[in-house]
Amino acid sequence: MHTVVETDVLIVGSGPAGASAALALSTYGVRNMVVTRYASLADTPRAHITNQRTMEVLRDLGVEQDVIARATPQHLMGNTTFCTSLAGEELGRVRSWGNDPLVQAAHELASPTRMCDMPQHLMEPVLVNAAIARGTDFRFSTVYKSFVQDDSGVTVTVEDRLRGDEYSIRARYLIGADGGRSQVAEDAGLPMGGQMGVAGSINIVFDADLGKYTAHRPSTLYWVLAPGATVGGIGAGLVRCVRPWNEWLIVWGYDVTAGAPDLTEEYALSVVRQLVGDDEIPVTIKSSSAWTVNEMYAETYSAGRVFCAGDAVHRHPPSNGLGSNTSVQDSYNLAWKLKLVLGGEASPRLLDTYTAERAPVGRQIVTRANKSIAETAPIFEALDGLSPQTPEQLWANIAARKDATEAAAKQRAALREAIAFKVYEFNAHGVDLNQRYTSAAIVPDGTPDPGCARDPELHHQPSSRPGAKLPHAWITSGTRTLSTLDTVGKGRFTLLTGIGGEAWLRAAEAQPLDIATVVVGPGQEYEDPYGDWAALSGISDGGALLVRPDGYVAFRHADATADAEPLLTDALRRVLGHG
Ligand code: FDA
Repeated sequence: MHTVVETDVLIVGSGPAGASAALALSTYGVRNMVVTRYASLADTPRAHITNQRTMEVLRDLGVEQDVIARATPQHLMGNTTFCTSLAGEELGRVRSWGNDPLVQAAHELASPTRMCDMPQHLMEPVLVNAAIARGTDFRFSTVYKSFVQDDSGVTVTVEDRLRGDEYSIRARYLIGADGGRSQVAEDAGLPMGGQMGVAGSINIVFDADLGKYTAHRPSTLYWVLAPGATVGGIGAGLVRCVRPWNEWLIVWGYDVTAGAPDLTEEYALSVVRQLVGDDEIPVTIKSSSAWTVNEMYAETYSAGRVFCAGDAVHRHPPSNGLGSNTSVQDSYNLAWKLKLVLGGEASPRLLDTYTAERAPVGRQIVTRANKSIAETAPIFEALDGLSPQTPEQLWANIAARKDATEAAAKQRAALREAIAFKVYEFNAHGVDLNQRYTSAAIVPDGTPDPGCARDPELHHQPSSRPGAKLPHAWITSGTRTLSTLDTVGKGRFTLLTGIGGEAWLRAAEAQPLDIATVVVGPGQEYEDPYGDWAALSGISDGGALLVRPDGYVAFRHADATADAEPLLTDALRRVLGHG
């Protein structure tokens, strides 16, 4: 029997992109269904670095504390170490992931959240459990096969792997969050730029108590410069902490033109032994899998009623830890738009802004992640270790840096410089937070783009200019201290103003759309005791910011005005695609 079930949004995939789309849609009260290929969620750690922007998204979706409870905290992430093996010589460290004192201050100033290390097999259950609790219809062991779309919806054929038959799901919209081999993206004909299979990599997951080599320099990542470490892979051998200090994941390269080696337990153990460098430590291999480094991104994220998110539209190596972060943020961008379009409050044209806003981000992070791999090479170069050579030659080159010669001094300086340059991979606060949107859902206020005062990849620059994320500032409400980010979101637009902004409040009330209002000032519901908000808001007390449900500023007016209502009405009309 060929049954047809119905939903409003069908999501294919339960990785970070699909799970967070389901969570956001259910939180907003949108009927949705997830189909996912396997009988369980991710069973290996995969993506793990969870940046401040993603934590802000999770905070808005009400699961921040669940993630914090399970994640490795920021202070245990930060000594990215370069060594010849964990037990071997250390070549240097980079203070990472906001653990440099100056960057730590920048993290504290930028956001109410902290970044953390949340392996994907722990993250997915948090997102999926919350989504199901809020109404997502979730179907394991169900494989997407094909879709056809028409003017009113999409009909998707899926295979039920338990029953062994196929059935149809009729949805108003389809989200393809089916990962780096996305069938949905392919069937939708989304044009891709770049290249798959740039290099070969192997993940080896294992248990071992490595505390004696790691607890004194706590880190998420330990990079190993050893013979063979420049073949394929992601720049060098990597020992990654899954749970401090006894669950680990090694990333080791292979020559993609020769194909992946036979992933026997013996092979995996030999790699672990080489990178750990201490054969006395008991090791239990849990799994090994081969994957390829990709450098691909879609130019367009949608076709008609079909939208793709996550690795389906951007495929890149794990450098900079951008994979699941970008996937979660794609879905967060899309979910509120679908909600408003399905509710009849916005024109379907609003959905076109999804590609306009997220495709440039996808292109940027694919480029950044691959650049970060290339930027590991100077470390080997400093040790004269890039060209093929015998292990003895490499060890001799590494040892040479200890000599009391001018050449060795130069080598030490070159090594220090090359390692320090890796901040672009391990402390790139601007890459995480400086995303700016230009689209029809952003109303320019006529001010010129001020650019960034410092390196935009390394440093976050807060801005309230339309297209930027609302700046975080600590404000108070009675005895409660909260972030400005806590006053927005929850699926609603928010208008922020201050003393003298009454006309904006009346204008917000006059709109057919439900708009939350926030007044900051002495004697108001929210106060600004530190003056932080006054310094960051970019408006005078009587001015206004209209913030979208995803925390981005859609419209800004610097001052009080008698024309608040026509101005706000026009801005909303444009943002919602009615213009
Ligand atoms: P993701 O791949 O997570 O999820 C895709 C989902 O779609 C899965 O639930 C899958 O079962 C489902 N699916 C696929 N086809 C389907 C179909 N036809 N029908 C139904 N369901 C279907 N990143 C990182 O930063 N560090 C790392 O170490 C690693 N390691 C790593 C290892 C392995 C083995 C993989 C596959 C990936 C990584 N990554 C990684 C990448 C990281 O996992 C990735 O960037 C994010 O998970 C992307 O999230 P998505 O939700 O887009 O895809």
